[in-house]
Amino acid sequence: MFKIPPIAPERLPDLLRAIPKAELHIHIEGSLEPELIFSLAQRNGLTLPYPSVEALRSAYAFTNLQSFLDIYYAGASVLLHEQDFYDMARAYLARAAADSVVHTELFFDPQTHTARGVPIETVINGLHRACEDARTLLGISASLILCFLRHLSEEDAFATLEQALPLQDKFIGVGLDSSELGHPPEKFARVFARCRELGLHLVAHAGEEGPPAYIWSALDVLKVARIDHGVQAFKDAALMQRLAQDRVPLTVCPLSNQKLCVFPDLKDHNLRQLLEAGLCATVNSDDPAYFGGYINDNFTQVFAATGMTARHAYQLASNSFEASFASEADKRIWQHKLKESFERFVEYD
Ligand code: ADE
Ligand code: ZN
Repeated sequence: MFKIPPIAPERLPDLLRAIPKAELHIHIEGSLEPELIFSLAQRNGLTLPYPSVEALRSAYAFTNLQSFLDIYYAGASVLLHEQDFYDMARAYLARAAADSVVHTELFFDPQTHTARGVPIETVINGLHRACEDARTLLGISASLILCFLRHLSEEDAFATLEQALPLQDKFIGVGLDSSELGHPPEKFARVFARCRELGLHLVAHAGEEGPPAYIWSALDVLKVARIDHGVQAFKDAALMQRLAQDRVPLTVCPLSNQKLCVFPDLKDHNLRQLLEAGLCATVNSDDPAYFGGYINDNFTQVFAATGMTARHAYQLASNSFEASFASEADKRIWQHKLKESFERFVEYD
């Protein structure tokens, strides 16, 4: 185990910003900043129901997940052409690289676009080209995870999978997102079983607003490798034990949880408790354009609110690599870089 060198508390925010990290829970449509929504609307000859960027941004006051999703799906309606998807992902990837992200696994919601008549090839090809360019132009690795919208039917999910399969070399896995309550993981048991046969990685949102039972069924019915959010696990001691024992990663999103009123006050967020209970928790931004911050804002704000230390920072960044679907060789390189970045902070003291 790496011995954490002493780091002055006032240097913690800089350390958090500088350490290499992986982001594993980012909906690419949730990275669309109001400025980009307006410029894509103009490019595509669309009129938005908001008079200005400021008016749109001021509508971002959410009371729960659904109140956010309504506006999030409306924002995504400006995406029509392959170049639009490319530009959106390119902007996010540049922003992630500036936050010392070395690897990211991006969620995308094809049904949000195919329902509007946008071909799935347009979506996947635009996003995939941005991921490829990120490697050469930004030096970071990026891959795609196709998410099924859980408020839609199993039949719709199967149809989406069918459409996506000719492009299977352009995404690494599947996930499950959108309105959680009333749409338990079991609804997609057969879809996930098929994706498993196809060799795709499996993840699912569970325990964001929904009960621990949804986390159990994501694990035991869908057989996912990671739980997105999962913060409601603390209500079930047996589940906490299972998650810790199996090192099941949780992709936690502190600012999202605050803005969607899961933990209205960040000082009450349970990330620290999850980590200290031995869970493989990670920090992520979810929908950074809507929740007031990218990954480093999530790190610095949750650390300030809950009094976490350099030891927690090391564990979270290390967990992000452990939890990723990258190769073992890449993980070793990033873990090494993480240790080096800690040592650099001590030398400059
Ligand atoms: N889609 C985008 N963000 C989401 C979230 N936080 N929960 C569920 N679905 C989402
Ligand atoms: Zn999410």
